[in-house]
Amino acid sequence: MANKKIAVLPGDGIGQEIADGAIKVLEVIAKRFGHSFTFEKGLIGGCAIDQTGSPLPEETIALCKNSDAVLMGAVGGPKWDLGTVRPEQGLLAIRKELNLFANLRPVTVFKSLQQASTLKEEVIDGVDILIVRELTGGLYFGKPSERRENGQVVVDTLYYTKEEMERIIKKAFDLARLRNKKVTSVDKANVLESSRMWRETANEIAKDYPDVELNHMLVDNCAMQLVRDPRQFDVIVTENLFGDILSDEAAMLTGSLGMLPSASLTDNGPGLYEPVHGSAPDIAGQNKANPLAMILSSAMMIRYSFEMLEEADKIEQAVSEVLANGLRTGDIADDKTKSLATTDEMIEAVISHL
Ligand code: IPM
Ligand code: MN
Repeated sequence: MANKKIAVLPGDGIGQEIADGAIKVLEVIAKRFGHSFTFEKGLIGGCAIDQTGSPLPEETIALCKNSDAVLMGAVGGPKWDLGTVRPEQGLLAIRKELNLFANLRPVTVFKSLQQASTLKEEVIDGVDILIVRELTGGLYFGKPSERRENGQVVVDTLYYTKEEMERIIKKAFDLARLRNKKVTSVDKANVLESSRMWRETANEIAKDYPDVELNHMLVDNCAMQLVRDPRQFDVIVTENLFGDILSDEAAMLTGSLGMLPSASLTDNGPGLYEPVHGSAPDIAGQNKANPLAMILSSAMMIRYSFEMLEEADKIEQAVSEVLANGLRTGDIADDKTKSLATTDEMIEAVISHL
């Protein structure tokens, strides 16, 4: 029996609908396993800009810091795209505030969804990759980042300290030990100085993990290998921007971005869990969104932050069963799908399998 306080930041677009689904699932899990979860909602992203002027109000930061874990929906939408204050700034700011340097994006293919992928079944069958993305450094946060000379010149800065590289690469090796003991470190060492330092650092860390195999791969090659032969990968570790791009690409191995959960972790403090997909403003409020990445993110949350392994397995198994029964939202539909499931139907189906 555990008492846990969960900050819920639904955000924008479909974030609202799917966050409510995850809460429902977690409430059933709490009841079944005798835990007590309390949920407190906070503002982030576009809705926070509308209500407070800031994409990440102080109140939300305090709420997250005082919680055992944070569950987030998604941020952004066309309404705020042209403003100088943007929803995405709230997401980057909460990552920085909570020092969430390690972003874990597992890519696993559900058997029953293999047909939904645009790739051949024989290529993706058995794919099981963990992308470990550095989340609080690199081009996303380097200063200066500005326009110069009347807007005719622009600069972004790729800045990393050795320590920032070490901690994320170590994390990847630790995680590889729990899996197939293989780390692929991805960089652009043929061009970038930062990548040459990254590669050196990976080689140094590898000495402490003689049981884990390390190989290096250039990011352009990795992009190709992910669709050519994704089964060669176990853990991929890379810097912030490369990880952003490769994780969207890898998501398509699973058939839909709508299936991918993620965890953003720090050394001490609450972790943040969110689906990899965005706020899908085009279908928001229509009861069409796929809630599964959000539900799977809540499973990651109770596994990593609360060490509730059996409970997490239960959620993942329920998702797998629902898919095996043929239930499909639009993003994962195939020719066998007779009618599309709504968001609510998908959530109820998962709950009925818990
Ligand atoms: C992600 C998203 C964010 C990122 C955006 C919304 C800032 O694409 O979590 O992958 O680039 O990190
Ligand atoms: Mn992204």
